[in-house]
Amino acid sequence: MPIHISPGGLHRQRDWSCQQSAELYNVQNWGGGFFSINERGNVQVHPYGQPGPTLDLEELEQELEARGYELPILVRFSDILKQRVQQLRDTFAQVIRDLDYQSHFVGIYPVKVNQQRHIVEEIVSYGGPEDFGLEVGSKPELLGVLAVLDSPDALIVCNGYKDEEYLDMVILATKMGMRAFPVIEKFSELHTVIRLCKKHGVKQPIGVRAKLASRGSGRWEASGGDRSKFGLSVAELLRVQRLLEKEGMLDMLQLLHFHVGSQITNIRAIRSAVQEAARIYVELAQLGCPLRYLDVGGGLAVDYDGSKTNFRSSMNYSLQEYATGVVSTIKEACDDEGVPHPVIITESGRALTAHHAALIVNVLGVTEFGKEPIPDPLPEEEDSAPLEALMRVHNDLTRKNVQESYNEALDIRDEALSLFNLGYLTLEGRAAAESIFWSICTRILHIVREMPYVPEDLQGLEKLLADTYICNFSVFQSVPDFWAVQQLFPIMPIHRLNERPSRRGILGDVTCDSDGKIDQFIDLRDVKGVLELHPLDGRPYHLGIFMVGAYQETLSVLHNLFGDTNAVHVSIDPEGGYRIEHIVKGDSVTDVLRYVSFPPDRLINRIRRRVETAIRQGQIDFKEGAHFLRRYESGLAGYTYMV
Ligand SMILES: Cc1ncc(COP(=O)(O)O)c(C=O)c1O
Repeated sequence: MPIHISPGGLHRQRDWSCQQSAELYNVQNWGGGFFSINERGNVQVHPYGQPGPTLDLEELEQELEARGYELPILVRFSDILKQRVQQLRDTFAQVIRDLDYQSHFVGIYPVKVNQQRHIVEEIVSYGGPEDFGLEVGSKPELLGVLAVLDSPDALIVCNGYKDEEYLDMVILATKMGMRAFPVIEKFSELHTVIRLCKKHGVKQPIGVRAKLASRGSGRWEASGGDRSKFGLSVAELLRVQRLLEKEGMLDMLQLLHFHVGSQITNIRAIRSAVQEAARIYVELAQLGCPLRYLDVGGGLAVDYDGSKTNFRSSMNYSLQEYATGVVSTIKEACDDEGVPHPVIITESGRALTAHHAALIVNVLGVTEFGKEPIPDPLPEEEDSAPLEALMRVHNDLTRKNVQESYNEALDIRDEALSLFNLGYLTLEGRAAAESIFWSICTRILHIVREMPYVPEDLQGLEKLLADTYICNFSVFQSVPDFWAVQQLFPIMPIHRLNERPSRRGILGDVTCDSDGKIDQFIDLRDVKGVLELHPLDGRPYHLGIFMVGAYQETLSVLHNLFGDTNAVHVSIDPEGGYRIEHIVKGDSVTDVLRYVSFPPDRLINRIRRRVETAIRQGQIDFKEGAHFLRRYESGLAGYTYMV
């Protein structure tokens, strides 16, 4: 019940608290401790963890808009990135000390996860060049990274398909003093490496990727296993060893790599893959391969829903358990056979970058469903029986008869539709039947929400009656994994969290694609079909889509020509306040049209000619022509989203 209206017109409710919002949206559990709700009812960011300096996300949004940066805005918190890099490095270092492991840890960031230069540079600088290197999976990534990494101590692991040009570049980079390891993924790459090494007169340190029988767990489980796309079978690994030995180049083989998939939800799957790889490592070492590095790939998961389970959006282990699992398993396998402990490399990408970025979007409007009032009086119909029957169901509805009322209402609505199709019910009559039907459903839904057990037939009602909140973003551009693989992201309002979110909605984006919507949300026990949201009150309403720092930008699609969003890198002053480190302007309309070969000059010339013709033919006057051209030109220079 509204108790007062603040000067800004905001309705506050006594029966709802920020604490209830925190529980509803489960903020403490998915956010890795980086997010909470403050007493103003806004989401705040704790880039150094809790307690610690904070930044109010809604206030930041208002200040960014005041500076002229339009929504949607991707906000990157450099300090969160730093925390994640240091947590990974320090946790491994600690576990290595605790277990008396006789080597060290190197983190390798796979740039495919987010190739933005600032992020790549920040990760390497936060980790330190000896402790953090980069992984590339293609020639373009290699060329970018070779220029960015200028420390001779930093490791570059080169994965992916490699042609001669790629391998030649790696070998010459090694000759120039860089530490790049091409990882052999197909046998034919080895022949090319051997030939190029002979040509350049060098011994190039190389790695091999093993195809493990062990699989990951979760959505990307199929990336591993015997039939996985990448890597060498054990028989091929033995052939590599023999060929290198025959060529007198066995000393080049220094690294064993595997990757069983991203977002591994179950710690047992990690342990079993590491165990298999460690056994291969030990056997190869005993065959005389001077291996020094064991690279366990990526896969360290992120708890997107905060449930701490092996559900696909979650993980049933902590970073500490991950590091302990990896280090202890390798140590045991090596100790059993007296093989020296290798340097442990991880290629974690998602776990480093996911938390640090959040997309802020504004709601443009709400489409309410089934809210047409029942006409009073009901329209006069030749056959008024269905309307009267529906009204009877409507008026007699109680907690005790919800299920049968629902079934009866469905039957009568079908009957009304048949009568309409046969010409016995008018359009007005059909509209009235639908209004009564939806009103019955809405009343049933209110009853059902209070019931401890919801009959199966009625479980879909919530979704059926949900509002659609139209938001200023493109699913395909900003959360492509939701569309492609139903990856869930934490989503919630970033303000008004001291008000009861009394509506239930799904999110529609601004593309004209029916897949351009988000209708699955994180839930502690399951997946929710609707999100609790606030009714619009005439003022801007902002939602945050969190944990979008991994993969989303890279995989984004220019559907409907909605381009990159504005992005700001924010860092927080430990003494209070924040600094905007970099601003990356989103694509303009000109940018996206250029991607699809529409040169702006030619477009403007054509439009100009068209305007001249229209003026000559008297369709528009000079002023309208000038106005149209101005709009066209400013549209080309403008943001691709709604402003
Ligand atoms: C070879 C390789 N290394 C590392 C990664 C990064 O994995 P994640 O982001 O799950 O840590 C991937 C991505 O799937 C990969 O293919």
